[in-house]
Amino acid sequence: MKFKRQIFGFQDMLRFKKLVPNRRAALAAGSDKPLPETYRVNQQAGRLHPGVMEVELTAVRPLAPGMKELTFRRLDAGAFPFFRAGQYVSLQGRVGESLVSRPYSIVSSPRQALENKLALGVADAGFFSGWLNREARPGDRFRMTEPSGEFHYETLRDGRQIVCIAGGAGITPFLSMARSMAEGDEPYQMLLFYGARTEAQLAFRAELDALAEKGLRVVYVLSDETKAGFEHGFVTAELLEKYVDIRTSSFFLCGPQAMYDFLDAQLAPYGLPRKAVHRDASCCPNLRLEAPRVFRLTVHVRDQIFSMEAAEHETLLTAMERAGVPAPNRCRAGGCGYCHSKWLSGEFRIAEGRDGRREADRKFGWIHPCVTYPMSDMELEVPAEK
Ligand code: FES
Repeated sequence: MKFKRQIFGFQDMLRFKKLVPNRRAALAAGSDKPLPETYRVNQQAGRLHPGVMEVELTAVRPLAPGMKELTFRRLDAGAFPFFRAGQYVSLQGRVGESLVSRPYSIVSSPRQALENKLALGVADAGFFSGWLNREARPGDRFRMTEPSGEFHYETLRDGRQIVCIAGGAGITPFLSMARSMAEGDEPYQMLLFYGARTEAQLAFRAELDALAEKGLRVVYVLSDETKAGFEHGFVTAELLEKYVDIRTSSFFLCGPQAMYDFLDAQLAPYGLPRKAVHRDASCCPNLRLEAPRVFRLTVHVRDQIFSMEAAEHETLLTAMERAGVPAPNRCRAGGCGYCHSKWLSGEFRIAEGRDGRREADRKFGWIHPCVTYPMSDMELEVPAEK
């Protein structure tokens, strides 16, 4: 074969010849320091998303009858991660043999998180919340998940005028949202309707009145009392119209299901787009059944197998917690997908309006135990908690 020698080809050959010695020289000139075990970007991601945190209760303050404020500091780091005002954390603890957890909205502001302070408002309702209200003391230690949830202001989605409607203990996320606005971290103008039965049942009065000096508009609505300076009755469309243009506002609602149903009916005639009304999710409750049956639930967590009783009116997550099984969870409302588990056998039902599974999950047998009730003996495979 005839080989035509070209100048560029000749230069390539020269370069190729020098390739190995050049590489050796570059390696010899390199640093002998070992590569870092972590990088700044990973450290920052770890600060913002720590997963689960170790925390200590530092203060307990009564707010209103049956409601307390619990303040925590973080033990495994010097600060809590910054979060979006309106988000929640899930607090986890052991009560007797049970490993329990509940989501609570954060009442302190995102800036306070950076000072290693995070406060929750806890109403005396249910097993864990009742225990926290009556028994928890400063110095007690817990595990807490990182802040999560979609119940927060979104610049691209929401209008500048936001109308927040709180019923009873549902005031908690709005404290954080109002504080964040007052501290200049959020661009919205906030009008808060806060409904309670009596004036004595309004929590955070001093804080809300102080925030009113910094731009928050608050309307207190009492259903069982008539007093000067307070609206009387319920938050109706007529009352809303008195203070705001309903059609150009974004609504944030937090309270009991009955309040959501009532407000849905009040707002229906306005034909608001779905994105204009946000509801904070609440924990999936027990079913009201006359004589609930009790089944056997078998749970696989990696190479361990647990067997326990599961009542027909309680969620599978509640049954696992009572038996001390470390089942991952956060929202307990079917929305976050954190408890996503593989169904192996048995019949079940899902709480009405709580099925947040994707189509593929339904097809391939995945369920959310936080919103699923047993209807026969069942077997599940649950992911190990991280
Ligand atoms: S804990 Fe969020 S979906 Fe079950």
